[in-house]
Amino acid sequence: MNQMATIETVADYWNRRPCNIRHSRAPIGSREYFDEVEQRKYFVEPHIPGFAQFDRWRDKRVLEIGCGLGTDATNFVRAGAEYTGIELSQVSLDLARTRLDVFALDATLIQADAERLGEHVRRASFDLIYSFGVIHHTPNPEAVIRQARQVIHPDGEFRLMLYARDSWKDTMIDAGFDQPEAQSGCPIAFTYSQAEVRQMLRANDFLATEITQDHIFPYVIEKYVNYEYELQPWFAAMPQPMFRALERRFGWHMLIVAKPA
Ligand SMILES: C[S@@+](CC[C@H](N)C(=O)[O-])C[C@H]1O[C@@H](n2cnc3c(N)ncnc32)[C@H](O)[C@@H]1O
Repeated sequence: MNQMATIETVADYWNRRPCNIRHSRAPIGSREYFDEVEQRKYFVEPHIPGFAQFDRWRDKRVLEIGCGLGTDATNFVRAGAEYTGIELSQVSLDLARTRLDVFALDATLIQADAERLGEHVRRASFDLIYSFGVIHHTPNPEAVIRQARQVIHPDGEFRLMLYARDSWKDTMIDAGFDQPEAQSGCPIAFTYSQAEVRQMLRANDFLATEITQDHIFPYVIEKYVNYEYELQPWFAAMPQPMFRALERRFGWHMLIVAKPA
């Protein structure tokens, strides 16, 4: 990793390997492909629908920062949100556009750097700003938080996921047993403590109202890439309630809810 990487390097990485692009073996861009991408994403990351709360945003203005292939985008639109997605990677955005077309769903998609969000969307306009696993990948995460504050409605809600430093995964990365993304070479992946997140939000006129942690990836990676879900032996031996306790305490995904202060 190179935490000093430029936005061009970040864009180049996600253009070469859009997030979740290998979540299906069906022809890329087909209905079957997108259905399988969604099924696998929510199977592996089952906490996402509960965090996004898609049904809450019917007729509300939703901005997603870093929509990737558009899995959550599709579900916000299906639930009736007035949805805008921005994404740095043109390749990812093109796939998200194809996806919405395949399902005849209507949304606004913009290729943009979230660090310059205010140049692309209206100020003080969004009821929800949602960003899952994105802001820690940009060279200047705090710039994105600052921009989000400019474009959120005064009564709006900010729901974001950032990687947690006090986590099983970060411990394994530090020990040389793991890497931040399934694919290697990710240029930037910052991690945060809960205190740092509260401070970063406070410094940008947001108030964190809820911070939890979830998600430990439990599968043997060599099997997982072949669509087989075999638990690592140490997780297979663990009773499910123990594993859930571990996820809630040491999960890689810090799930943050904030509002304008
Ligand atoms: C791990 S993927 C997550 C994508 C999507 N949110 C999901 O959950 O599937 C990270 C995404 O962040 C995007 N990204 C990184 N920096 C960005 C920036 N400055 N502005 C917009 N998108 C960015 C990448 O292009 C990539 O699609």
